[in-house]
Amino acid sequence: MQEKQIPFRIWFDNPSDYQRQTVAAFQHSFSDHPLLQLPRLQQLAESLLESGQCKFISTEATQASPFDTLNRNPDGRSIADIFARIEEPGSWISMYNVETDPEYKQFLWDALTTVRPLIDKQDPGMFNVGGFIFVSAPPSVTPFHIDRENNFWLQIRGRKQINVWNPRDRVSVSEQAVENFITQGDLAAVRFSEDVRSRSFAAEMGPGGGVYMPSTAAHTTRAETTWVTPGDGYAISIAMVFYTQKTRREANLYALNHFLRARGLNPTPPGQSAWLDAIKYPLARAFVLGRKYLRGYEPRVGM
Ligand SMILES: [Fe+2]
Repeated sequence: MQEKQIPFRIWFDNPSDYQRQTVAAFQHSFSDHPLLQLPRLQQLAESLLESGQCKFISTEATQASPFDTLNRNPDGRSIADIFARIEEPGSWISMYNVETDPEYKQFLWDALTTVRPLIDKQDPGMFNVGGFIFVSAPPSVTPFHIDRENNFWLQIRGRKQINVWNPRDRVSVSEQAVENFITQGDLAAVRFSEDVRSRSFAAEMGPGGGVYMPSTAAHTTRAETTWVTPGDGYAISIAMVFYTQKTRREANLYALNHFLRARGLNPTPPGQSAWLDAIKYPLARAFVLGRKYLRGYEPRVGM
């Protein structure tokens, strides 16, 4: 009997390529998915604009720029105009947290379910599944940055060069920079310099390709006008992101470390010592929850 094919799915050619803390390429079959086609994405963008979930970027941005997005298009073009002229240089729109749309929320859970047996073995307890969709025409960049979530990043259409660094690479991003970001959302100390590029996983991604990047793995993308072929003048990518028990644990450890550092101590970063993390975690959890219930502090998403 022929095996039933799942039409839209993510897979690794070699399942052992998936390791929780390792950057790895995978394949997917989502390029023809109806929710990832231009007319539906325009409709989504229109619905997300007022809540500030559509982000734009200065046309001057480079991979080394601060990752500052804007809530309004700097060249004044409307959503309808961006999509109508999407192949023109300067077209760039990102849609953040598309899971606020119920249809996309279900889509993201369904998509990650296709790779979940692999994930759950190493990284159980998936929660807060979210999605970020990027539509742009070359030349375009996404400046170097880190995120809190684990991320299955899929190229749906067009081409992009992507660089991703090992999440524990402290040459490309310092420990203090990761801690500041996890605890305060502060990316000021996360900056690209060309001499770290050679330390990254680098790939040119086309439709059907993708990269798994663990929480806090720095990444940047770019697309050049010279790569455009007729009928292929814009790119669509989607980041399918999620937290797990382990990302929560690490974020709580960072919160405790941040508190200790502010008091003049030099705490050991999470991930360096399993036994120290095991001892510290209940303290870290109590610290975060104590501040929440006693001091009204709102823990950051995923903690
Ligand atoms: Fe990102």
